[in-house]
Amino acid sequence: MPKALVTGSAGFIGYHLSRRLLELGWQVIGFDAMTDYYDVALKTRRHELLEAFEGFCPVVARLEEPGRLTRLLDETAPEIVVHLAAQAGVRYSIEEPQGYVESNLIGTFNLLEAVRAVPVRHLLMASTSSVYGANEKMPYAETDKADTQMSFYAATKKANEAMAHAYAHLYGMPVTMFRFFTVYGPWGRPDMALFRFVRAILEGEPIEIYNHGRMRRDFTYVDDLVEALVRLAEVPPARPETARAIAPGDSLSPVAPFRIVNIGNARPVELMDFVAAVEKALGREAEKIYMEMQPGDVPATWADTSLLKRLTGYCPDTPVEEGVARFVAWYRDYHGL
Ligand SMILES: NC(=O)c1ccc[n+]([C@@H]2O[C@H](COP(=O)([O-])OP(=O)(O)OC[C@H]3O[C@@H](n4cnc5c(N)ncnc54)[C@H](O)[C@@H]3O)[C@@H](O)[C@H]2O)c1
Repeated sequence: MPKALVTGSAGFIGYHLSRRLLELGWQVIGFDAMTDYYDVALKTRRHELLEAFEGFCPVVARLEEPGRLTRLLDETAPEIVVHLAAQAGVRYSIEEPQGYVESNLIGTFNLLEAVRAVPVRHLLMASTSSVYGANEKMPYAETDKADTQMSFYAATKKANEAMAHAYAHLYGMPVTMFRFFTVYGPWGRPDMALFRFVRAILEGEPIEIYNHGRMRRDFTYVDDLVEALVRLAEVPPARPETARAIAPGDSLSPVAPFRIVNIGNARPVELMDFVAAVEKALGREAEKIYMEMQPGDVPATWADTSLLKRLTGYCPDTPVEEGVARFVAWYRDYHGL
């Protein structure tokens, strides 16, 4: 049975990826600290569902715990590591930046050190579309310069990309970093717009619409994202013989087995169309409060997914109406509504 270490396995994306790997017959070591950034009961429930699979082994610990990840890799020898554990969230990084230093910088450093000590076939790590920051050229391509991060969250993820590149170069470890674009779906995060909108509408509360609704997001349905991850796991980057061997549009490093890949829907949706999809799925109209743009936020995101398509033959394509309806069905079921 192939074996994977998934960090952040009690998180939204980590849960879905772990579940899919288990269904495919993998053994999964699920590493998560169950942090209290949002409802811990939701994380506990996700892990309980994974524990129904024989191949799942949960480990509750923090990335920052010295030596913990190295010992774990040594004991379990997984083929791949998928690093999803992080302090996520753009807005919260303005209030509480320290947690981002601990989980994203120190935590990721420990993970890289562990993989240096106990090499794996492929290390896959989460970055974010937020690293494109103030870029105005759309769609965002991996080969575009991305040097204008607008939030501390994005800055720590950009730092993770640089840290992983250096380790890939120095120690020859194959690393793929993926930039996710607004992922949504069942078991989603309570701090994200979809969850907040649905909760508010069902409770008869108004919803807050930032930048007066002039926002576009490349919403990515979680099952599509997982499909892309599972396929990318089979395409570890190799160090190129020469820089000229790198195909145009490929983000492969000229000096390391390291690549960055966007995972998005490649079809940005207007925020008000997204709200309309939520209203339709709930059969209720939302009361809306129009607000200014929030600090750290960007007005639009849009992924160029041609590299993903070239590497895996796959591109996310679930329309938001369908994905939102599935989220609403899950939300009602989970809350017994
Ligand atoms: N959901 C999105 O739209 C999105 C977009 C871009 C990037 N990402 C990235 O994808 C990854 C997964 O995101 P998610 O939406 O599933 O978030 P999530 O918050 O649901 O999951 C992250 C998990 O990591 C765990 N964790 C946090 N700090 C930890 C630490 N120091 N040690 C051990 N565990 C720790 C948390 O308990 C949580 O369960 C993150 O790296 C995030 O930055 C997510």
